Amino acid sequence: MTFPVVGMVGGGQLARMTHEAGIPLGIKFKLLSDTPQDSAAQVVSDVVIGDYRDLDTLRAFARGCDVITFDHEHVPTEHLQTLEADGIAIRPGPEALRHAQDKGVMRAKLDALGVPCPRHRIVSDPEDVARFAAELGGSGGFPVILKTVRGGYDGKGVWVVRSSKEAEEPFRAGVPVLAEEKVDFVRELAANIVRSPHGQAVAYPVVESIQVDGVCDTVIAPAPDLDPELAGRAQELALRIGKELEVVGHLAVELFETADGRILVNELAMRPHNSGHWTQDGAITSQFANHVRAVLDLPLGDPRPRARWTVMANVLGGDYPDMYSAYLHCMARDPQLKIHMYGKDVKPGRKVGHVNTYGDDLADVRERAAHAAGYLRGTITE
Ligand SMILES: Nc1ncnc2c1ncn2[C@@H]1O[C@H](COP(=O)(O)OP(=O)(O)OP(=O)(O)O)[C@@H](O)[C@H]1O
Ligand SMILES: [Mg+2]
Repeated sequence: MTFPVVGMVGGGQLARMTHEAGIPLGIKFKLLSDTPQDSAAQVVSDVVIGDYRDLDTLRAFARGCDVITFDHEHVPTEHLQTLEADGIAIRPGPEALRHAQDKGVMRAKLDALGVPCPRHRIVSDPEDVARFAAELGGSGGFPVILKTVRGGYDGKGVWVVRSSKEAEEPFRAGVPVLAEEKVDFVRELAANIVRSPHGQAVAYPVVESIQVDGVCDTVIAPAPDLDPELAGRAQELALRIGKELEVVGHLAVELFETADGRILVNELAMRPHNSGHWTQDGAITSQFANHVRAVLDLPLGDPRPRARWTVMANVLGGDYPDMYSAYLHCMARDPQLKIHMYGKDVKPGRKVGHVNTYGDDLADVRERAAHAAGYLRGTITE
């Protein structure tokens, strides 16, 4: 058999959808998952249940794989370095991945590259947070944003604090804390690219990402009314970061757009990303298909959109554990609707799926996505 085996560490929905994208290419998948119930473990046939923090588990897993890639960024760097020394292809590699694992490392590197970021520094305790707020001066000061440098997701690990008194909680985890000015952005954008080991790269259209309670709610592709010059700058920035950091695979660059036409980098993710889910139905080649191609060093696919507008809305868990009963109405109401469910148990606020809609009229495309996501969740009843 000449078809390669892609080893995916982590059994979440990103692994599930990356696996899905490899099927038409005949690419084989091997999964290292925490539990057999994880989203991807339900659908991949070759699953190892084990702990990604354990080097022996990783080594045994890697033995049957041609390349290792990731559903999340939590595998310890020293383990990845050991696997690389064993001769295993790790994509993205451990050096690149450090910048997506640790927000402190990421900020230091972006500073060194001269990439515009929110003003920031590592803070040592609540009093130091007050000093940081004072340093901001001018329009700065409290409130400031605090982030644990590791382990955050979906806004967990991010705090908006108004005083040093409020700044105590982030320090409890025993992880270094990064303070940032609270950027008065007009909206959040994402510039997503995919890069392969031999240096080919493609850039997706820049999208707008709308968060609710710190969680991504809606993504609009392309970002409406975005100045083409700024869009080009954002794509070039993402391509430059990908090249400088030698990223392989999908790179999401989360951005803040300011009223005076600046773009600041919020954070980096080196894996398929929620802001790229629209590409499954809205781009010629999805982020997942291109991630698979990239880690195998195959030529990348066309990233251009298929429709004028594509909107992705996340489906969060609500009060109804059974979302399937909502399919009848959703599918009958909108025959163009694309539903992507992750096989996860419904818990309030948990991301359990997303929907994609597309068309020529943005207001209509948005309404259809919001309706389907709300109906599946149970917050819309007709
Ligand atoms: N410096 C900042 N100024 C203003 N808002 C911010 C700042 N940093 C973060 N936020 C808000 O908090 C959200 C989550 O922050 P961030 O992306 O760093 O956290 P995360 O939990 O690692 O992310 P994700 O949800 O992408 O997993 C951002 O999307 C943005 O809405
Ligand atoms: Mg984020």
